[in-house]
Amino acid sequence: MKPPKVPKGLPRKLASKAQPFVSRVPRSQPVTPISQKPLPTRRTESLGPVPSAVPEYKPLPVTGPRIADEDTWEQKAAHEAKVRRWQTWPIAICALAAFGMGMYTVQLYISLTREIPEKDIPKELIDRFDREAEGYDEKVGTAEIMLRMTARRKALTEKVHGHVLEVAVGTGRNFPYYPTKKCSTVTLLDASGPMLAVAKRKWKDEHPEYFHRVFFKQQSALDPITPPYGAQDGYDTVLQTMGLCSTSEPVKLLQNLEKATKENGQILLLEHGRSYYDWLNKLLDKTAPAHADEHGCWWNKDIGKIVEESGLDVVEIKRYNFGTTWWVELKPRKRSQPKVEAPKEGESAGGPSPVAQKPWWNIWK
Ligand SMILES: C[S@@+](CC[C@H](N)C(=O)[O-])C[C@H]1O[C@@H](n2cnc3c(N)ncnc32)[C@H](O)[C@@H]1O
Repeated sequence: MKPPKVPKGLPRKLASKAQPFVSRVPRSQPVTPISQKPLPTRRTESLGPVPSAVPEYKPLPVTGPRIADEDTWEQKAAHEAKVRRWQTWPIAICALAAFGMGMYTVQLYISLTREIPEKDIPKELIDRFDREAEGYDEKVGTAEIMLRMTARRKALTEKVHGHVLEVAVGTGRNFPYYPTKKCSTVTLLDASGPMLAVAKRKWKDEHPEYFHRVFFKQQSALDPITPPYGAQDGYDTVLQTMGLCSTSEPVKLLQNLEKATKENGQILLLEHGRSYYDWLNKLLDKTAPAHADEHGCWWNKDIGKIVEESGLDVVEIKRYNFGTTWWVELKPRKRSQPKVEAPKEGESAGGPSPVAQKPWWNIWK
């Protein structure tokens, strides 16, 4: 160890005798340099041996970098302060997240329980979809994952084949699951232009190879739907997901879909509406007007009753998510409805006809 510096004013004689502190300690006490001293334990030797019932003191394990034995008390204290700081960060982050979630829940509750008389909400709410088209996928994405809707969309869409019509297609959330190899034609219909524009963009990205036989139609699904050239008997498959909630006349819509479907065709629906449980239905009823006014969708509709009133033949109904998610497979009634009046070639039955958009390989027919 280096001897300490001699202060300036000290006489030379004394100064020459200056010794480091350690060597001035009387020899009777063995000296341990401070850095080698063991850490004090709770019990000192004067208290005698530790009774066997009392567990021996063990320092708590600390997370973070280990400290070397030769570190000083200051370093140890600094290290412990650092560990404490690290431990406070996760707590602070969790507290902030909980606060954010709380605020969001309160805001949601306030917005959903706004008193809006039902009569003040317009019958047609398509303008809500026009407005929200661009951000629609981001808005519904998380909720759909939580409710396992993606898996259900996939399972239902995989059943389509032949001449396919998807109504209330929206932004095309089912597109990734289309078995295009099994589809003779695909007609994608929605009343909202901006929603259909997003769908068009998405289809091009998703199925760039399938563009000759896909038709986009902006029209109401309540109006007559003209099948494409080659499907005069109607569509083999009609698909609709989350469409009954946002249409003003759901029974009429189902009956119109029946008219557009081949006699042995299938109508596949994935809808949301009332639950099995009263407490949940009460909540849906209370919040439905504000939700519809904001987003254009009535989430308290009785899907079972709508299907029953439509009179269509039920193949299968399954329910998920406390009964609020409805998987419905229907088929047209046998000859109960006049077959869809297929237009003659080149003719249109309401809106631009996909018949006019004949595929190029049929151009000579
Ligand atoms: C809740 S979104 C569902 C969109 C999409 N099917 C999905 O699963 O995400 C309802 C869609 O139905 C459309 N829509 C509502 N009433 C309609 C009608 N009468 N005819 C056609 N489309 C309609 C809206 O424009 C909107 O795009």
